[in-house]
Amino acid sequence: MMNEKEKFVNELRKSLEQNTFVKLQFGKYRGDDRDFQKITVTKINVKEGERLSFNFKYTTKDIVKNFETQKGVSLSGEILGNDFLSGTLFTTENDFTLDHSRKRIPSLHKKKPTFRDKEPAVHNREKVRIADPSAEYFRLLGISTAEGTVRSGMYDKFRQVDKFIETMDSLFRSSGLNEKDEIRITDMGSGKSYLTFALYDHFLNKLNKKVTVTGIEKNSELAGLSNKISWECGYEGLVFKSGSIEEAELGGTDIAVALHACDTATDDAINKAVRAEASIIILAPCCQKYVRKKMRVPENLRGIFGHGIHEERLAVMLTDGLRALSLESKGYSVKIFEFISSEHTARNTMITAVKGNQNNNEAENEITQIRKEFSIDDFYLDKILNK
Ligand SMILES: C[S@@+](CC[C@H](N)C(=O)[O-])C[C@H]1O[C@@H](n2cnc3c(N)ncnc32)[C@H](O)[C@@H]1O
Repeated sequence: MMNEKEKFVNELRKSLEQNTFVKLQFGKYRGDDRDFQKITVTKINVKEGERLSFNFKYTTKDIVKNFETQKGVSLSGEILGNDFLSGTLFTTENDFTLDHSRKRIPSLHKKKPTFRDKEPAVHNREKVRIADPSAEYFRLLGISTAEGTVRSGMYDKFRQVDKFIETMDSLFRSSGLNEKDEIRITDMGSGKSYLTFALYDHFLNKLNKKVTVTGIEKNSELAGLSNKISWECGYEGLVFKSGSIEEAELGGTDIAVALHACDTATDDAINKAVRAEASIIILAPCCQKYVRKKMRVPENLRGIFGHGIHEERLAVMLTDGLRALSLESKGYSVKIFEFISSEHTARNTMITAVKGNQNNNEAENEITQIRKEFSIDDFYLDKILNK
């Protein structure tokens, strides 16, 4: 009789034979490499025929290796229960999850299928794309395959990049900056730099601007990798600097971007952008912890905001709301909106700010009032922006 792991591998083999395979994911890594995170396996077609494409995801890079189907299936069997304690097979018929206990005893669970369609992202394809998945940098960054299609595990990331470029494009076209031939952009906390590359490509090749994009990233390995890819693409105006946002030099920046710069790194980015008098600022804040630690819910609101989850959400809204008011106080006109559906990412709030002519004292008064109401004596952005 087959054991649970053999049954899982058998389901994998069957799904490939019957063409119901969607993707396979390995999680709960228990190996020695601290940077290794997970493996996603998809089916691809190359010149030589069908292959299983293994995307080995590390903190700072993705390594992709393609295997013949049979080899890929037996490799999956070897990985499971050894370096990875869990595997999920998505097929159009069912999802199968194989878990291992601490003593490495496998158990198999079967659920209704997450994807009834073999290509989970197919509905998104119908939308007009701004970013081009076949661009060389998307391949080098591990977003797309050699054939120029988005890897199934990377679709949410690609969608985010695409939506961001769309937002930036419309802001830019409606701003005075549109008249300028030369545009300088700084992306603070550029990370794996998917967005930074797409931004450079868009301004250079779609908007036909002479553009300089600088990515600021405190992780020197990530900055180095991004510089290497930029060099390989021949992108002379796209450079990455290893360093902190707090110490970044933004003089002359027209557009300042900080997407998912955690907690107060977003405040540092706002401070730098405002001081550089950037015409457009785009932020996607995340991990808003600072205000949560400093605020106190007023007694008359405790009935509603006394619950942990509500207090957490309130802290997020207060943080971003106070950021918006701070930008308004410096003469920016600000919008806060959900830039991508929460189906793709939970970190989906965007703040855009476009520079006007006059500081707004009323916004300043509102900040004072709200801080008093919620006993926020210590507000990080205020400390750095108004010192
Ligand atoms: C979650 S990633 C986001 C990357 C990219 N902006 C995106 O949205 O895909 C945040 C990145 O910001 C970098 N970062 C965080 N705080 C920073 C700081 N104070 N100075 C420079 N980089 C910072 C981190 O190292 C990380 O690579």
